[in-house]
Amino acid sequence: MLPVLPLFVLTVILSVVSKPVVIRDSQFNLPVVRKLNFTGESTIPELDRARSQSILKRPTRIVHGDAARAVFDVAATNEALQYVTSVGVGTPPTNYTLIVDTGSANTWLGAMKPYVRTNSSVDTGQQVSMTYPSGSFSGEEFTDRLSLGSFNVTVQGLGVASRSIGFENVDGVLGLGPANLTIGTLFPDTEATIPTVTDTGFAQGVLTAHEVSISFQPTTEEVNVNGVVTFGGNNPSRFNNPISFVPLTATSPSKDFIGINQTITYGTSGFPILANAAGIIDAGTTLLLLATDTLQRYLTVVGGSNEPDPETGFYTISPANFARLQSLFFTIGDTAYEFTANAQIWPRSLNTAIGGNPNTIYLITADLGTRSGSGLDFMNGMVWLERFYFIYDVGAGEVGFATTPFTHATTN
Ligand SMILES: *[C@@H]1O[C@H](CO)[C@@H](O)[C@H](O)[C@H]1NC(C)=O
Ligand SMILES: *[C@@H]1O[C@H](CO)[C@@H](O)[C@H](O)[C@H]1NC(C)=O
Ligand SMILES: *[C@@H]1O[C@H](CO)[C@@H](O)[C@H](O)[C@H]1NC(C)=O
Ligand SMILES: *[C@@H]1O[C@H](CO)[C@@H](O)[C@H](O)[C@H]1NC(C)=O
Ligand SMILES: *[C@@H]1O[C@H](CO)[C@@H](O)[C@H](O)[C@H]1NC(C)=O
Ligand SMILES: *[C@@H]1O[C@H](CO)[C@@H](O)[C@H](O)[C@H]1NC(C)=O
Repeated sequence: MLPVLPLFVLTVILSVVSKPVVIRDSQFNLPVVRKLNFTGESTIPELDRARSQSILKRPTRIVHGDAARAVFDVAATNEALQYVTSVGVGTPPTNYTLIVDTGSANTWLGAMKPYVRTNSSVDTGQQVSMTYPSGSFSGEEFTDRLSLGSFNVTVQGLGVASRSIGFENVDGVLGLGPANLTIGTLFPDTEATIPTVTDTGFAQGVLTAHEVSISFQPTTEEVNVNGVVTFGGNNPSRFNNPISFVPLTATSPSKDFIGINQTITYGTSGFPILANAAGIIDAGTTLLLLATDTLQRYLTVVGGSNEPDPETGFYTISPANFARLQSLFFTIGDTAYEFTANAQIWPRSLNTAIGGNPNTIYLITADLGTRSGSGLDFMNGMVWLERFYFIYDVGAGEVGFATTPFTHATTN
């Protein structure tokens, strides 16, 4: 029995340097995916893991903005497995629903609603394509005017998919990761980089700070407009001071993404789970992925299941062991971030959304699929970001974290 994944499919996104892989020649829609049996065979942990494995096989510009200081808040919707936001494209704009992703940098649409060309649409003459573990898209690269709330950029690179698969109930992706992740996605200009909306906004002087911040929150509903993506700065109403910044990691392959080093310990005794190692912050991955041996150490100490539950792919924990579950501590730079017992489990009101049993307690940790020491030992996905404010300072090559009013929430 498969979970009702098509309604909640995680879109696992990564950038790969490759030629178009066209799986199907029609526009994506739900029946096609069901017929192809494409997403339904993968559990969320499997899709997340596929993304991490692809990253193990891979490779900002700083410009000067000079206009009035400007910070823009853009609402984002928690759909339990992914965050989406509405992006206006064209003049006048048509709205598209795009997945908020920090693990890729291509922005594209066309998976669902067709692209409406207006007088601000310009066909660059380049083809664009990406292959994802859970799907792919290919099409034509345009530039157009994009508006995210009141944040507008012009001549923004925009993929317009003529073929795509693996994207459910969304139009495409808003890629907010390092622009270098777009290298290899254009053809014939394979060396070109496509600036993200953050880069474009800064280059055009719309943003005075070359940065983007993400505020996610836990949810108990399948659709909840509880997130804010802030361009050009941060939103102090969404976190508790202070913010602590660390440089991006120098370790490959994490350094090609929004990579950091962190240490993970468990409980008040400081039981070691992961010694200082590199990994990434990825809003487009649902779960908290850990290297195989790291995950095993965690499951052993907390008394989680030995094997993932076959229905959902999630590891589980008994009510008795959950009652004893202590916090994880993520030490990033000099700061230890407490990830509570409640944060370590899937929201129980959403168990059925992953095809699970309402009375089972599912852990949000999953296996990355490789042993530690690969240079990508963790992926702090969306469930992790729901507990901490996150600032990606593209210009400085730094990331900042802060606790939020939801760090200790017990809603799960
Ligand atoms: C989907 O694929 C699996 C094997 O990967 C197969 O067992 C199952 O029957 C397929 N389902 C449909 C509806 O084709
Ligand atoms: C992006 O890639 C280019 C070309 O490979 C390289 O010179 C540049 O240093 C990279 N930028 C970053 C921020 O990694
Ligand atoms: C498009 O989105 C904007 C901002 O969310 C909203 O104000 C506007 O009404 C939407 N337009 C349409 C046609 O839905
Ligand atoms: C583009 O279309 C919009 C809306 O139809 C109009 O306001 C604008 O003047 C047009 N721009 C150009 C350059 O034609
Ligand atoms: C962005 O464009 C909208 C109209 O599409 C306009 O109302 C708004 O003022 C613009 N914002 C900025 C900062 O230019
Ligand atoms: C980051 O972690 C990697 C191992 O993944 C290690 O080789 C490197 O020395 C660490 N960097 C710092 C600054 O601690």
